[in-house]
Amino acid sequence: MKNLIIVDNPLIKRDLTYLRDKETREYQFRLALRRIAYCLAIEISNSFNLEESEVETPLEITTGYKLNQQIVLVPVLRAGLSLVNSFIEMIPQAKVGHIGLQRDEKTLLPIDYYYKTPKNMDISKVIVLDPMLATGGSASAAFTYLKNRGAKDCTLACLIAAPEGVKKMELDHPDVPVYTATLDRGLNENGYIVPGLGDAGDRTFGTL
Ligand code: PRP
Ligand code: URA
Repeated sequence: MKNLIIVDNPLIKRDLTYLRDKETREYQFRLALRRIAYCLAIEISNSFNLEESEVETPLEITTGYKLNQQIVLVPVLRAGLSLVNSFIEMIPQAKVGHIGLQRDEKTLLPIDYYYKTPKNMDISKVIVLDPMLATGGSASAAFTYLKNRGAKDCTLACLIAAPEGVKKMELDHPDVPVYTATLDRGLNENGYIVPGLGDAGDRTFGTL
């Protein structure tokens, strides 16, 4: 899996345990998601380009740095919303697009219901946020849409990936690196990631 980057550290492992635990309620679930999202944002930011810019301290002029590329965050509704705030805190100048996709429970294929993305996608670094990469159908559809809107420099940030989803991304979008906090065993007969954490949207928003 050439496109896969597993972002792994002890705090992420601890927080994934909270997320997996079926007894964890919405409040703690959201906090754990938020903390892992900070770690993903920092890891992904290693690929950002900087340019030098002068800065005047109270003592003298020295070299500073600024990002030289527009960053566009694209949460996939609903569950992707839970990752946005951490990324925005780390990248306050980021623009935010939204893509609404709902997996059909029988076919497991994504049904699209909303799109809104900023201008200049072709010169932006576009980061899609979605905690779950299961069959990969939703992520693949999101990148197909974004590339049709001009996006060239694309990244996926998720929390739990299944090998099936990683393979689909590698096949459909081999140029897109997939950052995940963990790679789980696979999918069950209903298309849920196992061991997984259940339905990320329902657990985040309390709609179980
Ligand atoms: C979940 C998840 C992904 C998708 C992953 O969303 O947030 O978007 O499923 O599955 P896939 O890789 O097989 O496409 P869901 O469709 O349940 O919508 P929700 O976020 O509104 O609950
Ligand atoms: N969507 C989820 O929210 N969880 C899964 O395990 C698979 C798809």
